[in-house]
Amino acid sequence: MKGRILEALSHAQGYVSGQELCEMLGVSRTAVWKVINQLKEEGYEIASVPRRGYQIISRPDAVTAEEVTSYLETEWAGSEIHYFEKIDSTNSEAARLAHGGAKAGTLVLAQQQESGKGRRGRSWETPAGSAVAMSLILRPDIWPERASMLTLVMGLAVASACRDCYGVQTKIKWPNDIVINGRKLCGILTEMSSEIDYIRYIVIGVGINTKVEHFPKELRETAVSLHEILGRTPQRALLIASCLKWFEKYYAVFLQTQDLSQLREEYNDMLAGLGDPVRVLEPSGEYTGRSEGINEKGELLVRRDDGTLETVYAGEVSVRGIYGYI
Ligand code: BTN
Repeated sequence: MKGRILEALSHAQGYVSGQELCEMLGVSRTAVWKVINQLKEEGYEIASVPRRGYQIISRPDAVTAEEVTSYLETEWAGSEIHYFEKIDSTNSEAARLAHGGAKAGTLVLAQQQESGKGRRGRSWETPAGSAVAMSLILRPDIWPERASMLTLVMGLAVASACRDCYGVQTKIKWPNDIVINGRKLCGILTEMSSEIDYIRYIVIGVGINTKVEHFPKELRETAVSLHEILGRTPQRALLIASCLKWFEKYYAVFLQTQDLSQLREEYNDMLAGLGDPVRVLEPSGEYTGRSEGINEKGELLVRRDDGTLETVYAGEVSVRGIYGYI
């Protein structure tokens, strides 16, 4: 009931009368009043005016299922939301749920992660209220070797959401970091459970720094938070809903061809350091060249200094801009 009242108040232009809410939900005025008080306790500022009803004046930066749902404009992404005040890792929880049969589109959100996971076994810190920590379950009918492209699809979605919600122009550091002015705003971790030719499930985890007050010393120069860029705290629920909306759109395009041929141009437009010098670190050694953007498989094309074109696969190497973090 709380979710539906929140949704009604969120979508209304002005006041919504208590009577309207009672009729919509088939409950008493007292029941509505109790929910309004609950919402106030959660940090919503709600005006209540006799004979006019209720109106939301301001909302907390909550990432509860009700708050995110009130912004959601998707068909399947986020159709089921599991919210935790505290969890080990939203990716781990999503994997547990997927293992237990949770459907595609199930979303796990947390206010705080106690053992958040980064790529390549690194850890990822999410202190309470400082970031978006979300994981989406997918069950695509594609070859497992194509799954890594979904990280790029989510990268596009996050960059589009930042632009849409806050007018922030981000770039994508191939394959999966979202950056602003060369500093990392968001990391994406895609994990999969599969057989050789069959995907059981995929979990795409997204961590966006929204209000990190103090980055650990080693990240101070290379990480950034949206709060610092905007000069105010972004509404995480709005950002999450927008990421899901964009992901649904790009995912549908991806599924048509099961590659990035239709998204390549858009991705390359958002790519950090296109045409710039890069240093490719391979297990066998390193070389320098210029980034020519991704191909339809999501691999990075690098024109070596001697003119030959190399295809760089994300799992094998690390690519650094010659200058700074990018
Ligand atoms: C990276 O850049 O190394 C990837 C970081 C991914 C972090 C997110 S936060 C939500 C989700 N849950 C996790 O444990 N990790 C991802």
